[in-house]
Amino acid sequence: MESSTYVILVLSYCFLFSLVVARNENALERSEDQIEAISHHYHTLKLSTFISSAVCNPSTNGEKRKGSLQMVHKHGPCSKFNEDMMKSLTLDEIFSRDQSRVDSILNKVRKEIQGSKTTLPAKSGSSIGTLNYIVTIGLGTPKKDFTLAFDTGSDLTWTQCQPCAGSCYSQQDPIFQPSTSSTYSNISCSSSECAQLDLARCSSSTCVYRVGYGDGSFTIGFFAKDKLTLTSEDVIDDFFFGCGQDNEGLFVGVAGLFGLGRDKLSFVSQSADKYGKVFSYCLPSIDSSSGFLMFGSSGIGSNVVYTPLSASQDNSFYGLDLEAIYVKGNKLEINPTVFTTSGMIIDSGTIITRLPPTAYSALSEAFQAEMTQYPLTQGPSLFDTCYDFSNYENITIPKISVVWSGNVNVEIPPQGILIPVSNEVYCLAFAANQDDSDIGVFGNTQQQTLEVVYDVTAGRIGFGPGGCS
Ligand SMILES: *[C@@H]1O[C@H](CO)[C@@H](O)[C@H](O)[C@H]1NC(C)=O
Ligand SMILES: *[C@@H]1O[C@H](CO)[C@@H](O)[C@H](O)[C@H]1NC(C)=O
Repeated sequence: MESSTYVILVLSYCFLFSLVVARNENALERSEDQIEAISHHYHTLKLSTFISSAVCNPSTNGEKRKGSLQMVHKHGPCSKFNEDMMKSLTLDEIFSRDQSRVDSILNKVRKEIQGSKTTLPAKSGSSIGTLNYIVTIGLGTPKKDFTLAFDTGSDLTWTQCQPCAGSCYSQQDPIFQPSTSSTYSNISCSSSECAQLDLARCSSSTCVYRVGYGDGSFTIGFFAKDKLTLTSEDVIDDFFFGCGQDNEGLFVGVAGLFGLGRDKLSFVSQSADKYGKVFSYCLPSIDSSSGFLMFGSSGIGSNVVYTPLSASQDNSFYGLDLEAIYVKGNKLEINPTVFTTSGMIIDSGTIITRLPPTAYSALSEAFQAEMTQYPLTQGPSLFDTCYDFSNYENITIPKISVVWSGNVNVEIPPQGILIPVSNEVYCLAFAANQDDSDIGVFGNTQQQTLEVVYDVTAGRIGFGPGGCS
């Protein structure tokens, strides 16, 4: 009796125990599934990911690529720029300059559509905005190094030149002195290159260029050519550029501008024989060190996917077609005609991606629905979806991806989803245009860490993940 009770007790205990184990195993399996599903649709990251780190650690990806130039964020740890000079811009100023860049892009595109090219454009360049990515190139013989703002939205490359007959702003590098370069020469007014300038005039038979930017900044000087050295193997002997004698406006610290637009005088067009109008870059996030800028098709990552380059409404810009936006793996309900009507360009100089208002509100609504655990707060006027993270060390945010024409899905890196606007406040890093008919702009915050390939000859633009950190 006693022993049988004992056996039954032991048996039932074993049975119960095995049940408990089995249920625990099930629970474990289920929660692992859930974690996987959740991480598939969310990023969980430390807030410090969004903040500039103090040390410069050149990206291994960038270094590995033969013949690539180092691409640096002006405010990042590898920038050699004097931070006192750089920090003089407030956030409001940064975002208002970003808006003025977008406004000037919209104006240029509208003019092209309306065909009002009969009058000379008063302003041939986009507003310079803040141009926060910089590269260093060599100019002249012997070569001197100059740090230029990298800009896919303009064509003519220029640098400030001695003797600064009009005026030069303060820059970090010594100003280019043409008389010390044995390969420098002025371009004559009768040359075919001079005829390609939007705005040119003659000064004792020397071709004089002028580029006015949308925000009133301008550069005027001698149209010139000299040897351009990117790396020891990448040298362009007769590179046409502006030797700026009067440079005024919102340029800060850089020696000038490196124009990688789509039109005739851009570096891309001038080096077409050598690189076949192919270039690629990775814009590093501000917390990281450096990305790269590379010309030609060798070394392009194998996981890059391509979308067709669209017939842009303006010759300088690179157009592409957005088809859909996903938040947390769900496609936003946006009528596709919203995107076909607006069109889109990709621009290295615009900070925040601009979307048609209809698409932006769908995005912001879906994002907010996933962020209900965080308190909403006010941010700069460009943004309407900002959060107060003062009580958080780590945050969980929904993944966002965009789908380009040809079903090319590009996941936006976390640093492209939120932008810090103070120590505690972070905003959804997208903004709405005024009108659904305004062209969208895919900006540099969203391009960070992606490998972006411009294959102009083949008419396509490629994106690959993890181009740099
Ligand atoms: C370029 O042209 C300007 C204006 O005519 C002149 O002052 C300068 O000496 C010229 N430079 C060279 C290298 O010819
Ligand atoms: C944040 O995440 C890290 C791991 O990445 C973890 O060690 C830390 O405890 C987390 N902090 C909080 C407050 O949850």
